[in-house]
Amino acid sequence: MRLSHAVAALIIAWFADFGCIQAVTLDVKEGNSTCIKAELSATFSITYNTSSSTQTVQVSLPNSTVVDTGSSSCGTDDSPPWLVAVFGSGQALGLSFSTNGSLYSVANLTLQYNLSDTSIFPEANSSDVVTVVLPSIGIWATINTTYRCVSPSTFGVGGAAVTFSDMRLEAYMPGNDLSPTESVCTADQASTTAPTTTAGITTTEAPAPTPPGTPERGTYSVNNVNGTVCLLAQMGLQLNVTYFSLSQNKTIQELVNLTPNLTRSSGSCEASSASLVLTQEGSSTLNFTFTLNSTSNKYHLSGITLLANLPDATAPFSAGNTSLDYQRSTLGRSYLCNAEQTLFVATTFSLNTFRLQVQPFKVTTNQFATAEECQMDQDQMLIPIIVGAALAGLVLIVLVAYLIGRRRSHAGYQTI
Ligand SMILES: *[C@@H]1O[C@H](CO)[C@@H](O)[C@H](O)[C@H]1NC(C)=O
Ligand SMILES: *[C@@H]1O[C@H](CO)[C@@H](O)[C@H](O)[C@H]1NC(C)=O
Ligand SMILES: *[C@@H]1O[C@H](CO)[C@@H](O)[C@H](O)[C@H]1NC(C)=O
Ligand SMILES: *[C@@H]1O[C@H](CO)[C@@H](O)[C@H](O)[C@H]1NC(C)=O
Ligand SMILES: *[C@@H]1O[C@H](CO)[C@@H](O)[C@H](O)[C@H]1NC(C)=O
Ligand SMILES: *[C@@H]1O[C@H](CO)[C@@H](O)[C@H](O)[C@H]1NC(C)=O
Ligand SMILES: *[C@@H]1O[C@H](CO)[C@@H](O)[C@H](O)[C@H]1NC(C)=O
Ligand SMILES: *[C@@H]1O[C@H](CO)[C@@H](O)[C@H](O)[C@H]1NC(C)=O
Ligand SMILES: *[C@@H]1O[C@H](CO)[C@@H](O)[C@H](O)[C@H]1NC(C)=O
Ligand SMILES: *[C@@H]1O[C@H](CO)[C@@H](O)[C@H](O)[C@H]1NC(C)=O
Ligand SMILES: *[C@@H]1O[C@H](CO)[C@@H](O)[C@H](O)[C@H]1NC(C)=O
Ligand SMILES: *[C@@H]1O[C@H](CO)[C@@H](O)[C@H](O)[C@H]1NC(C)=O
Repeated sequence: MRLSHAVAALIIAWFADFGCIQAVTLDVKEGNSTCIKAELSATFSITYNTSSSTQTVQVSLPNSTVVDTGSSSCGTDDSPPWLVAVFGSGQALGLSFSTNGSLYSVANLTLQYNLSDTSIFPEANSSDVVTVVLPSIGIWATINTTYRCVSPSTFGVGGAAVTFSDMRLEAYMPGNDLSPTESVCTADQASTTAPTTTAGITTTEAPAPTPPGTPERGTYSVNNVNGTVCLLAQMGLQLNVTYFSLSQNKTIQELVNLTPNLTRSSGSCEASSASLVLTQEGSSTLNFTFTLNSTSNKYHLSGITLLANLPDATAPFSAGNTSLDYQRSTLGRSYLCNAEQTLFVATTFSLNTFRLQVQPFKVTTNQFATAEECQMDQDQMLIPIIVGAALAGLVLIVLVAYLIGRRRSHAGYQTI
């Protein structure tokens, strides 16, 4: 992990040297005072349809990016502070913020792109302006401090992804410049302990990855608008991703464990669908969607999407599937599976779960309801029963044999 951070840092430095990624400075003002300021580099990876196929383009936030003063605001009682940066014809990046008095965070990230801009999207068969909104992306900091994340971090869903790097950002600013105190993102905290100046690292072969072992079990929850827990989950998670490795110049398959204490959960609970979003800051966002069939009162896991920032990959890794049918259970019950389960999501991505219990609907008093256990666990329960039954059978046979033997020998004595 440390090696890959160092490699990522070197790649960023290399790009920065050659000017491929530009840093821009954006600020939102009200009168004379600045309320949001951001210095960052960003690249977008956008997939769109042409008449014959699908294309993916990589676009960097250009130097010419400006703040849209019309839509940006420092916030009012009804609307949160919002930074909107625009570039090209109709491309925009928006960040809205929220705070609870001691922390502030990016409440949502909006990406808008204009498919009729043929300089960026050649041969697009649509001329739509597409807007995607990503809620709760896991960028947060203590109030009156600057959020700093030099390491690249990727966010996205479906066809679009944004990778930020060299990021310094503050909202609800006490002064007109970024606060000197920094809240450093986890990815940077990890990379500061890695050797930073060993140029030789780029040339050494990446060591064969050792399997990461069984992942730790994490406890995750989602709160309702009124603050009550509406979704509960406990599980160990392991990503199995297949991607093209830059250092090895070939497609490789890698197992990555989610570390619970570096993972934050968010999501939403609605009447017939619930989502759980697990964000490992700077490296991955894993999104689960549960669907309830209110006719049959059964729910299931219907969608999984993953967006991961793999330092050794050519582009942000993204894979997903919204028509899955896993973890069927009944409304008012939780779903339990202690055995390891493999959930196939896409050709390049499957998810291994360990010691899992989830309840996406009807959670009361912060606790799991009675569990419905998966078939695999029931099968494993059967093993001791079968062994037990076999042993009991054996004892019975021995006993019967002994009794018969005794009777025979009695009969023998009588004939003598
Ligand atoms: C903004 O700054 C100018 C010059 O420093 C000053 O004259 C003006 O009163 C300030 N406006 C506000 C709203 O503070
Ligand atoms: C591309 O076209 C397919 C089929 O019409 C559609 O499902 C998909 O959403 C389109 N993708 C984008 C990025 O517009
Ligand atoms: C664009 O192309 C996709 C296939 O690549 C097709 O499914 C879709 O209907 C096309 N959309 C339009 C508006 O022509
Ligand atoms: C999208 O791009 C086209 C062509 O460049 C331009 O005419 C149009 O105004 C743009 N739309 C928006 C919302 O900016
Ligand atoms: C995202 O934030 C903007 C600005 O606060 C807001 O207008 C928009 O409704 C938000 N979108 C979602 C889906 O929360
Ligand atoms: C703000 O949220 C954080 C994390 O959820 C929490 O630890 C803190 O106590 C909250 N502060 C206030 C003033 O509510
Ligand atoms: C943030 O700084 C401002 C101005 O220095 C101060 O009034 C405010 O109390 C500070 N807030 C916190 C949570 O420290
Ligand atoms: C919280 O909100 C949900 C729906 O939004 C409602 O069902 C529940 O009763 C509310 N709980 C409390 C304690 O208000
Ligand atoms: C990971 O995925 C590959 C390809 O789908 C598969 O062959 C391999 O067995 C999986 N490994 C684990 C530990 O799940
Ligand atoms: C990567 O591998 C391909 C074929 O396997 C080869 O043609 C190419 O030169 C290699 N590139 C590098 C940078 O080693
Ligand atoms: C996370 O947990 C691991 C192992 O349990 C521990 O070594 C590490 O220090 C923890 N990290 C944080 C940020 O708490
Ligand atoms: C919900 O369940 C009913 C009864 O099992 C079934 O007929 C119906 O097709 C299901 N609805 C959906 C959307 O799957």
